[in-house]
Amino acid sequence: MIKNYLSHTTQVMKSSLIRELVAATKNVPGLISFAGGFPSPATFPKEILSKLYAEVLTDEGRDVLQYGASEGDSQLKSELLKWEGYDYLTQDNLVATVGATNAIYYMTRALIDEGDVILCEAPSFLGSLVVFDALQADVQGIPMDADGIDLNRMVEKVKQIRESGKTIKFLYTIPDFQNPAGISMSLKRRRELLKYCEAEGLLVMEDNPYSRLRFSGEELPTLFRIAREEMKNTYLVTEIISFSKILGPGMRVAYAKGDESLIGKMVSWQQKVNVSPDCVTERVVAKFLAGGYMNPHIQSICEFYKPYLAKMLDTLSATMPAYVQWTKPNGGIFLWLWLPEDINADKLFFQAKDHLVAFIPGSKFYPEGQEKFNCLRLNYTYSTLEQIETGIGRLANLIKTIYA
Ligand SMILES: Cc1ncc(COP(=O)(O)O)c(C=O)c1O
Repeated sequence: MIKNYLSHTTQVMKSSLIRELVAATKNVPGLISFAGGFPSPATFPKEILSKLYAEVLTDEGRDVLQYGASEGDSQLKSELLKWEGYDYLTQDNLVATVGATNAIYYMTRALIDEGDVILCEAPSFLGSLVVFDALQADVQGIPMDADGIDLNRMVEKVKQIRESGKTIKFLYTIPDFQNPAGISMSLKRRRELLKYCEAEGLLVMEDNPYSRLRFSGEELPTLFRIAREEMKNTYLVTEIISFSKILGPGMRVAYAKGDESLIGKMVSWQQKVNVSPDCVTERVVAKFLAGGYMNPHIQSICEFYKPYLAKMLDTLSATMPAYVQWTKPNGGIFLWLWLPEDINADKLFFQAKDHLVAFIPGSKFYPEGQEKFNCLRLNYTYSTLEQIETGIGRLANLIKTIYA
């Protein structure tokens, strides 16, 4: 009945299939799941946060229980600028949001008219793909190699799209420990990509929830920093940073950093959608930063996760047949498996469920009609070390029997 009243956009809107797949594996006794994208609850800084929530409410409740600023709490923004060391930015370059998802929504809302093209890595984060889709963008994926997005393929694609008369507005990229592939873009590729985007008039949305979860190897400058500091370009890159994998996704704290003219438009959207982010939680995060808790906490998370990644990589090496390949990230929370062309991971998902192990089939991370089927995503931050060993062993045995 209500269906007849729904807008066309709502009627054709897709849900995030991953949630359904994760739900399908929920109540299967003994099943080991590498499907979700959850951080380990053991990494949530519960004691410090409960102390800070109590202090903020007691000491500053009159202020933070009131309606807040649409651009975000000024104490939080001031602490964020100090934390990241951006002395040349001002608060007008920042908007605090309810999770990265909202920042992604506001930026897309500010830039996209129906049918405009958004370029992205293929595969990419499904949560963003469904936002782009809901806002009626035409999403076009570009393959990656070991150094990140394949620039030659991007040049070809841009040419093709422009020849068809379409407008490309921005590139959506996750340069560090990409979700879902676990690939990080090399420094050389970052520079080449930005030069190309600048020359072609393409904006960049840099989604960065994982760069601080680095367990080994050298930290790379963000696209935002390269654009600002090496290229002196203030508007090319807008960076979105989430605290979901650092403090806990339930807090829904994130922020976007960019040229003040675009940030201002994102604030206007936030005013309409949310009025403001959660003022209490924003102030708690401001105190978390001001109290010097953030960097030691991040270091402790990295130390916590490191053995889980190592266990998954070691078990894959020990159990998988030679025709299976996987990425070997130095951080983040995912890795990606390539299977032989004739194994379809959508089908393998259901066979794996019967063998009590779950993953997300790779096809779910591609824009519609551009899927690859012989690939899958594994998460290693929500299982025990024993579960990783047993679960990867089950998956390897299944693949070997199918492909025998
Ligand atoms: C690449 C990427 N972007 C954005 C998000 C969503 O972040 P948030 O919880 O801050 O909305 C995620 C969450 O998994 C992600 O992997």
